Amino acid sequence: MSITLARRNDAFESSIVRELLTVGDRPGMRSLAGGLPDPDSFPTSRLADAAARVLADPGRAERALQYGPTDGLPELRAVLAATPSVQRVHTATADELVITTGSQQAVHLLVSALVDHDDPVVVDDPCYLGARQVLSAAGARLVGVPVDADGMNVAVLAERLRAGLRPRFVYTVPAFQNPSGAVLHPDRGAELVRLARRYGFLVIEDDAYGALGFVDAPPLPLGIDAPDVVVTLGTVSKVLAPGLRVGWARAPQVVRDAIVRAKQASDLHTSSLSQTIVADAFADRAFLAGHLELIRTRYASRAAALAGALDEPGVSFNPPRGGLFVWARLDGVDTASLLERAIANNVMFVPGHAFAVDEPWAQHARLSFATLPEPTLRDAAVDLLALAGLAPSRVGG
Ligand SMILES: Cc1ncc(COP(=O)(O)O)c(C=O)c1O
Repeated sequence: MSITLARRNDAFESSIVRELLTVGDRPGMRSLAGGLPDPDSFPTSRLADAAARVLADPGRAERALQYGPTDGLPELRAVLAATPSVQRVHTATADELVITTGSQQAVHLLVSALVDHDDPVVVDDPCYLGARQVLSAAGARLVGVPVDADGMNVAVLAERLRAGLRPRFVYTVPAFQNPSGAVLHPDRGAELVRLARRYGFLVIEDDAYGALGFVDAPPLPLGIDAPDVVVTLGTVSKVLAPGLRVGWARAPQVVRDAIVRAKQASDLHTSSLSQTIVADAFADRAFLAGHLELIRTRYASRAAALAGALDEPGVSFNPPRGGLFVWARLDGVDTASLLERAIANNVMFVPGHAFAVDEPWAQHARLSFATLPEPTLRDAAVDLLALAGLAPSRVGG
């Protein structure tokens, strides 16, 4: 029998990052490609402790193992509402939060709730791949607005709006954007909110990296002052562990209701066991403060090591201030073809074109400093630049 898939499958892009992850398992491969948190940073014993405590208490064990409410366990929503170091919309009440299965699910539910086929949606250019995938699959018409060191160029958006563009929403990652590491300037954020109210669209701000500022915290989420037009997303993936699959959304009531309806049809609710473990860990203030300090320090030091190795003529990038990535421009280098040579030499990265919406980003590369220990990270970066013809080869390397 030949199996016919629904037509909507044609719109699914495969993610180059997931494809690269399969090559990443090769022995000796040094991957700058995945946005995978450092596994040594997982607070394994604290999470084991949380699981043991939850399961030893009959009331909590029942909540952890039973079906739960679609919008999430009240104990987790209450803890998140009181944890501004991670759920940074400090004005949000527990009732306003919806727990999702990672923030990727929140993006998916929002797209199901808000986007019809051919609706225009504005995104960062370059754009987080996972959002672009969901939007393309839904048949959205993607409109890229260029990102520079100060985040989305809101003046360009304003021009397009004046010219008649009426997006369903604007999706942006304002803090340490994936892939560019950019931070949205507060003046641009304020202007984005003003435009949202004037032209009647929602802003979806994905705060996946907001807790990972190395020196300073990034500006506060737009959702604090503009809960009427802003949906804020968050996740434990970059601060605890992605395998927990716990994220959240804070949205205006009508959007929240639509997300909850769509989620019910999708997975009933996020794993109750994961939710209780996260609630237990986040309620432990001393643990959380110490853990955030540890991962920020580790990533800051790795970011500095990578930035040092990239300090060569013909390579430009904004100094990393947080998050997991450096977005480097390699002058005159086609990074898609560089990738093939790099893989043959046991180095992986994601070429810029993978994140492209309207701009080609053909000379850019996303380099993650999250996963490799410093000496390997440095060597991988130097080898990559040597392959690109932008740095001398390492002696004997
Ligand atoms: C900007 C952004 N949003 C969302 C996600 C998905 O995260 P989660 O594990 O919470 O689904 C990622 C993962 O890399 C991301 O970079």
